[in-house]
Parts: sequence; C-alpha cells; structure tokens
Amino acid sequence: MSHADAVVGLQWGDEGKGKVVDLLSSEYDLIVRYNGGANAGHSVVVNGERYALHLVPSGILHGKQSVIGPGVVVDPAQLFAELDGLAERGVDTSGLVVSDRAHVVMPYHKAEDELREGSLGPTRAIGTTKRGIGPAYAEKVQRSTAIRVGDLIRPDALRSRIDAAVSAKRAMFDAAGLGLDADELFETASAWGDRMRPMVVESTSMLHDALSAHRSVLIEGANATLLDVDHGTYPYVTSSNASVLGICAGAGLPPRAIGRVVGVVKAYCTRVGGGPFPSELDATDQEREIAGAIREKGREFGTTTGRPRRVGWLDLVALRYAARLNGVDAIAVMLLDVLDELDQVGLVEAYEIDGERVEAFPSHTDDLARARPVVRMLDGFGGSVSDARRLEDLPAGARAYLDAVAEAAGVPVGLVSLGPGREQTITTSELSGAVRVP
Ligand code: IMP
Repeated sequence: MSHADAVVGLQWGDEGKGKVVDLLSSEYDLIVRYNGGANAGHSVVVNGERYALHLVPSGILHGKQSVIGPGVVVDPAQLFAELDGLAERGVDTSGLVVSDRAHVVMPYHKAEDELREGSLGPTRAIGTTKRGIGPAYAEKVQRSTAIRVGDLIRPDALRSRIDAAVSAKRAMFDAAGLGLDADELFETASAWGDRMRPMVVESTSMLHDALSAHRSVLIEGANATLLDVDHGTYPYVTSSNASVLGICAGAGLPPRAIGRVVGVVKAYCTRVGGGPFPSELDATDQEREIAGAIREKGREFGTTTGRPRRVGWLDLVALRYAARLNGVDAIAVMLLDVLDELDQVGLVEAYEIDGERVEAFPSHTDDLARARPVVRMLDGFGGSVSDARRLEDLPAGARAYLDAVAEAAGVPVGLVSLGPGREQTITTSELSGAVRVP
C-alpha cells in the first residue's frame, strides 16, 4: 500500500496552500480534501489566469481525480457555482467526486451563522465567513437532524431529515422573523441531489483501493493549523480539525497511511476575523504603515469574503508549535517577495506574558491575548527576490531570513514562492526528499 502525502497550512489560513497543491498535483493521481467547506479560499494562478476555489480541490485544474472527503461540509449551491465557473473557462471537472458521508450545508445553516455572530456582538463574535460552517458541523455532531450528501439522493431520507430539522429549528427561526419552509427546502435539496448524483461515491473504500493499487494520493488541507478546532486558538477557530490531525477522520485513512507532510507558511502572518494575534502590526502608525504595505503588495484581502486581512510579522513561536503538531517534513515559505522592499523585517521569537519570556505557544486564548511579541529585527533582503530560481540567486538578507525560519521550525525549507505564477518558485532537494515533485 502506498501512502498519502499532505499539504497543510501552519498559520491562520491563506498561506498559499492552493499554489503548493497546484504545483505538486501533476505528480499525484488523486487529490483529496478532508475538512472545512466553502470558508476556504484557494487562489491559484495557472497560465496567467487566476482561479479562486472554495470547495473544489485545486487538483481539478490538472484534470486530476479530486475527492471531497467525508470530513468536508458541502454547500451544493456553492459547489455547482464553482463547477460552472470552471467549465466556462474550459476546465474539465469530470474528475470530481463527493463522499456520500460528507455533510450538507443547508440554507438555514448560513442563516444560523449570521444570527449567532450577530447575537454575540462585535467583541465576542468569531468573525466567521458566514458560510454556515459552524452550524453545519454542530448539526453533524447533534446527529438526528443532519443531512449528508448520501441523503440528497434518497428522497425519503431527505424529506424526513428536512422535516426533523425544520421542526427543531422552527422556534428559533420564528423568533428571528425568518421563514423556514420544509417543502421549499426539500425542492431545493432534491434538485441538488439530482445534479450531484453522478458525483456521489463511497470515497473511503475508493481511497483505500487507490492506495492498495499504488496510486499516489495528495491530501489538501483547508483553513489551517491555528484554526484547528482542538489545537488552534480556540474559540477563534473554525469548526473542523484543519491540521494534519483531521486527515484520518476527514478522509477515512488510518494514521499509518499518511506519508509525508509539507507545511505551508507565509513569510509573514495574516489573520481574518477575530482572535488574538500576538505578532500583529497594529500598535503604532509606523506598524500600521508596514502592515498596509504588506497588505497591498500581498493582496491580503479575503478570497472568500473580501475582508482586509490583519497583518503581522512571522510568528516563530506559533510556527514551531504548528510544525511539531503536524509532524512536518518540509516547509514551503510563500510570498517571500512581498517583504523584499522593506528596510527591516521582523521575526517574533518569543512572547512576553506578564513580564515572563514564553517560548511555548499558549493554549488559552486569554494568555495569547496578553502575549507581547519579542521581535528580532533583521536587515531587509537587500534586493528584489522575484526573479530568483535557486536559493543561491536570492540576496543574502533573504537567505538569512529563510535560515532563521527553518531553524525555528526545526524543519528544512522545501519550497520558496516568489510570486503567484508557477514559475516564480524555488524548490529544493528537501522537497523532493519529502514529496513527489514535478
Ligand atoms: P468559519 O470557518 O467561517 O466558521 O470562520 C471561523 C474563523 O476561521 C474566522 O476567523 C474565519 O475568518 C477563519 N477562517 C475560516 N476559514 C479560513 C480560511 O480558509 N482562511 C482564513 N481564515 C479562515
């Protein structure tokens, strides 16, 4: 049996996983997503064309068999919109299959997401993407009213589950003055089922058969480690296990089937939504100016929501934690070019909490909120990095920066990204030692 290699984000998302998966996927037979839903936003540039994918694994751009696994929550309307958009641009999407065990994001989940966030108020709200992710996962765990993709193609099961959900939610929706019509929901969901039927598979056996037949599998993480529901900056997280730890349940694979892991890290940090962010550049006008420059050059506006992302220096405390949690074999450092015009670049090497130096990533959000960054300032890179194609081509400042990052992560640098295009990438022997490289 072969192993499934994985690509996961090591920060708060938007690290550039889409580009890494896109680069690697030509070498793999199957690409699998195991968590999250349309909250993810993978932005990939292929032949100068930018694609924004939310639910569809980015391997589809290579015409690969792409699997939406059991751990994903699927919003069919969003899925079809994405497939139609890809088809219009000539992308063959016939390789996409969806696990019958995956859960469905229903219209009422999005309404609940909106209501809940509104009721929490601006200081307590998580700042979700309002894609219904939390309510859909909550429904899954509550069980009796949840709808799985397999139910969409079984009218009797679908009707009974919709009726159960509507009666359980009736009081809440009435109180909010929102309509909830079981017939209408059934009609919508039945139409989704009709369209989805050819894509629905029992993906767990399919994956096991593929590995037994020595087909190669690449697992694509969505969201990222610090948003992992158990190991991220709880409660300011998403509702799935977005680290590598979610792969077993979310794809249906035993731990020993997981091979090598590439951890994707941006050369700085960003965060969308609420929650503590110790390395955030927001304390002074000068910091906000640097953050603004990084945001503009890095196009740091949400792929899913368009929100401007919060920006900070690369946080090595968080990176060390995330690299270890995921058992990362190599890191991919993305968007290095975004920093190359700065006179100085900061790396957060520790926190100070209540006057004490802390090097371990705190598990409680209150401690993290009080953490003050201990920043090591490095000289700027000393020139543009965009045209480098080997590590040796990089200016000395950029190389020193990468060395510091690799040392902190305790993992070698396998890939460096210097722009959105596929060609704007340096790969090292550490990457080919870890995963299949074109
Ligand atoms: P939810 O996943 O929509 O419930 O949002 C929970 C938190 O995770 C919010 O702070 C979102 O902004 C954040 N989030 C979820 N998915 C992503 C992602 O793919 N990139 C960045 N942030 C995300």
